Amino acid sequence: MRKKIVAGNWKMNMELEEGLNLVKSINQYFTDKPSVRCEVIVCPPYIHLASVNQILKNGKVRAGAQNCASEKSGAYTGEVSAPMIKSTGAEYVIIGHSERRTYYNEDNRILNKKTILALGAGLKVIFCCGEVKEERESGKYFEVVRTQLEEGLFTLKPEEITNVVIAYEPVWAIGTGLTATPEQAQEMHEYIRSLIKGKYGSVIAENITILYGGSCKPSNAAEIFSKPDVDGGLIGGASLKKEDFIAIVEAV
Ligand code: 13P
Repeated sequence: MRKKIVAGNWKMNMELEEGLNLVKSINQYFTDKPSVRCEVIVCPPYIHLASVNQILKNGKVRAGAQNCASEKSGAYTGEVSAPMIKSTGAEYVIIGHSERRTYYNEDNRILNKKTILALGAGLKVIFCCGEVKEERESGKYFEVVRTQLEEGLFTLKPEEITNVVIAYEPVWAIGTGLTATPEQAQEMHEYIRSLIKGKYGSVIAENITILYGGSCKPSNAAEIFSKPDVDGGLIGGASLKKEDFIAIVEAV
């Protein structure tokens, strides 16, 4: 059985104290509830990671970063490397989020480099892919996602790809209130799994976790997660509210 995951991507939200309060209450909730078998991850801004990991040390919730540098170390003012993230106790890093692709011009080549560095540092990667509205409307969405995966991920060796989680996030659904229908999500997740199977074989394809992201909320999560190839979610806005985030995790 592949792993179910719900990860909260806080983006550039939460000052230190409110972020730590949120993490404390989420961690307490899930640590007291062993019946929830889904892996729960919070991805705060870099600057909170070390403090968040102090809180999570003995709990059930894991932490991840939202990005990492494309170099390992050195004179890159303002950057944060994958080994630094690992040294805080974080286990995951999100790579290739559409906001990084759009606002910071991160292309598949850079994302591939970051992925290799992150895996080399011992982190697990949540690799994001997804098409913009025009690409959905013109019917090019399979081709777009295929290129993102081929160029971003498919240079990895089989033993590396097993430390990758894929997040399908249609850009037109992120923060817009528009959600992919469960059928649209399933169609793409099934396609992504077929690409993994073509490249890495059926055992790896069956075991890789594929998350859906884009305006996921308590009212739509259960229906999306009920689809056979949807293994959980990458949650933006709703991960900032304890009750909403917990309800989404419980919908898996
Ligand atoms: P929203 O859930 O706010 O649409 O954001 C999704 C997302 O980008 C998670 O990475």
